Amino acid sequence: MWTGKKLVKAYLDFFREKKHAIIPSASLIPEHDPTVLFTTAGMHPLVPFLLGQPHPEGKRLANNQKCLRTDDIGEVGDASHHTFFFMLGNWSLGDYFKKEAIEFSFEFLTSKKWLGLDKERISVSCFAGDKDAPRDEESARHWEKMGIPKERIYFFPKKDNWWGPAGKTGPCGPDTEMFYDTGKEKCGKGCKPGCSCGKYFEIWNDVFMEYNKTASGKYEKLRQQNVDTGMGVERTVAVLNGLPNDYETELFKPMMGKVRELSKNYNEKSARIICDHLRAVVFVLAEGKGIVPSNVEQGYVLRRLIRRSIRHGRLLGIKGNFCREIAKKVIETYADEWPELKKNSGIVLRELEAEEEKFGRVLSQGVKMFEKILGREKEISGKDAFLLYQSFGFPLEMTVEIAKERGLKIDRKAFEKEFEKHQKISRQATVGKFKSGLADNSEVAIRMHTATHLLHAALRKVLGEHVQQKGSNITPERLRFDFSNPEKVTKEQLEKVEKLVNDAIKKGITVKREEMTLEEARKRGALAFFDSKYVPEKVSVYTIPGASKEVCAGPHVKNTKEIGKFKIVKEEAISAGVRRIKAVLE
Ligand code: ALA
Repeated sequence: MWTGKKLVKAYLDFFREKKHAIIPSASLIPEHDPTVLFTTAGMHPLVPFLLGQPHPEGKRLANNQKCLRTDDIGEVGDASHHTFFFMLGNWSLGDYFKKEAIEFSFEFLTSKKWLGLDKERISVSCFAGDKDAPRDEESARHWEKMGIPKERIYFFPKKDNWWGPAGKTGPCGPDTEMFYDTGKEKCGKGCKPGCSCGKYFEIWNDVFMEYNKTASGKYEKLRQQNVDTGMGVERTVAVLNGLPNDYETELFKPMMGKVRELSKNYNEKSARIICDHLRAVVFVLAEGKGIVPSNVEQGYVLRRLIRRSIRHGRLLGIKGNFCREIAKKVIETYADEWPELKKNSGIVLRELEAEEEKFGRVLSQGVKMFEKILGREKEISGKDAFLLYQSFGFPLEMTVEIAKERGLKIDRKAFEKEFEKHQKISRQATVGKFKSGLADNSEVAIRMHTATHLLHAALRKVLGEHVQQKGSNITPERLRFDFSNPEKVTKEQLEKVEKLVNDAIKKGITVKREEMTLEEARKRGALAFFDSKYVPEKVSVYTIPGASKEVCAGPHVKNTKEIGKFKIVKEEAISAGVRRIKAVLE
């Protein structure tokens, strides 16, 4: 039997033999790229190297990367689409190109020493060409040389056979995809590789990244020709075991079994959605980066995944809280290879339970409200959708989904209008957010406020750029600063932070204030960690040259020497992944 573990080992062994350095999976939360919420593919953390920066491990790399994508969320529940999944990848950073990449793929898939798949069941697709790049005859030729006949080599346009960039701009290129024919009947005349009926499983994708998409939408040739490949672990394990879908592999079985056990009215699709979504949530929470369910950014994705699972749990007739039970199975299943799951299991279970409690309290009222709306209208109005969102915590996407199940439409535009109206009102209310919780404008509060900026910057220097302000509060006696960090800050680190702050104070630096748009502020490297939907047109940026640059409404001291001596008096955890520092000025 093939397990995920066995496949990962074989893959990495194969590429080790082919002189690739094995690198660890990067975090699911992109560390240097605020333009995307999650790591969506193995190439994402490698972008600088695809653009030409030398990689410390060399030009040939391979790994098993944790990925999270929400673009396929609507398809989850079918045989092989997921939000979270593992992706095996090998990279050439300006080293080998199409010929070797295709030879490696073919050998690994078909050789008896490796996966031993029947080459007669393999079809491939290549890029058909358009105004941006030529038809990829070269890849097709290499496939033919491997013994794949012309009839099983398909040419598809950009929407199917082009990958990237991961964000709006960056490295990308044509790809060649490998499909395994499960032997199932064709679903219709048009059934061919790429069809989602379950006959063809796409198992591997070799991307030839030799283009860079620019902000103006042009495709320029990169300095080097790269290879970026991706093989989905779950679906490949299913194929290797001759299973019709990923949920029957050992990667999902323990969770699926638990859902079945808890269900009163079992249905396969809801069970799959729950297992897929909660596995994603467990892995995100286990990153220990302070990301918890909320209404913005990554937190919103978590919330959506959890709440959708809970709703499907209700459809299955599961009584009471169940997310923890499933999460425990995820942890058991994966803890050996992903030690963060055990290490942060406390955070995972706590956050899941808290979110389930929160949503559980309003869900039945929300459903009642929904039924009421359904009874009287043919279309769900923007106002109603907004009410369900605001008062009952229904993510908009969930309302859309339920409406669709009932054959109703929803007025999305009107919802967005309602949302905006609400934001305008909350904008005034969130001005306090820009003040970072400054309680008064007394001289001492202002001094502490500037010290808070120095502290924030120093923490990022000492602990890393994952540190983000989560809250701040100032009283005449002390300042309090909450920030994301997975672990306790050590005594040595605290001393370093304290010293950095005091050094900046001693230097007597003049504090500068400028006004600009938030976009401009971010471009200039100012820290601005809040939901950008709530931001006024112009923001103030306070710069302490050499030490800190932050968007803030102020007020601040004119010169850092006014602050006085800074001393940290306490460091503690306040919630999962969030630490609190209290400090005084002497
Ligand atoms: N980056 C490519 C993918 O995700 C390999 O499919």
